[in-house]
Amino acid sequence: MSASLIVEAASVTKRFGDRLAVDRLDLRIPGGLCFGLLGPNGAGKTTTLRMIYGATQPSSGAIRLFGIDIARDPRAARSRLGVTLQQNVLIEALSPEENLRVFGRYHLLREPELSRRMREVIDFLELKSHARLPVKQLSGGFQRRLAIALSLMNRPELLILDEPTTGLDPAVRLALWSRVRELRAGGTTVLLTTHYMDEAQRLCDRVAIISEGRAIAEGAPGELITTHLAPETVEFDCAPEEESALLSSMGSLPGRRLRAGRRVMVYLEDATVLVDHIRHRDQGDRREMVARPTNLEDVFLALTGTRLEGAQ
Ligand SMILES: Nc1ncnc2c1ncn2[C@@H]1O[C@H](COP(=O)(O)OP(=O)(O)O)[C@@H](O)[C@H]1O
Ligand SMILES: [Mg+2]
Repeated sequence: MSASLIVEAASVTKRFGDRLAVDRLDLRIPGGLCFGLLGPNGAGKTTTLRMIYGATQPSSGAIRLFGIDIARDPRAARSRLGVTLQQNVLIEALSPEENLRVFGRYHLLREPELSRRMREVIDFLELKSHARLPVKQLSGGFQRRLAIALSLMNRPELLILDEPTTGLDPAVRLALWSRVRELRAGGTTVLLTTHYMDEAQRLCDRVAIISEGRAIAEGAPGELITTHLAPETVEFDCAPEEESALLSSMGSLPGRRLRAGRRVMVYLEDATVLVDHIRHRDQGDRREMVARPTNLEDVFLALTGTRLEGAQ
């Protein structure tokens, strides 16, 4: 096993009774990257993270964190790690400042370093305006930012974020994305989970697409798109029985096609020819035709036959 990998999971499996939550997962995450575990609810993302930060043991397989066997020495990694759980863990009766102080003490920070670090994370996550109100009075977005601030108190080398922006409004999501980018630019390795393909695509250098406990594809988002599909997508409404007549009149058939209900997606190097063809044939846009860049949602659909977002 290589020492330069921050996280290394080898054939990791987790069973809950009969249920196989994680199935022979291999992960190799080098330092300095933002790595995403992308998959629908129930895919096994949280269980994978819990094994990585030592909250639960794999049923089989091995995990090394900073080159340390996490099963043998879970404490050795803890001081180098920041974790933001899927559900915020905050003391609701206390203010953000007091939460940060409690957590800083847990990490054995002392004055004046403790106050200095509190000010830094309060500034970084823009918590100042509400830093002295009880947490229970704060909005969901504010509480989420505080939860992330807590996980940064110890200046972690690896920051683990479980669904950092689920349920947050678009402005808060954008703000958090820019913070994650800044952390990564400053050398922090980030491992996050998400079921939002746009989040994975915007933030992550590499993603592993997880379905039913297995990694079904891994790579840079752009690389996954070109390997499995093509850079451009044309999508339009088309009943199954119309599809071959519509497309075969083009002469040579276009690239790979996928269908979700009445919606057909065609993946191409260049969308123009197909767009012109459909416009010309149908004289207009009654098919709700859209030409757009291919995304990771398309890759997930191609690999599993189901949608990523909203999937259970
Ligand atoms: N403590 C547990 N006991 C039993 N089943 C669990 C437990 N934790 C997770 N699971 C099951 O394992 C699967 C993966 O769950 P999870 O890792 O939470 O997925 P995700 O985070 O991708 O939504 C799900 O089917 C879930 O019901
Ligand atoms: Mg989860």
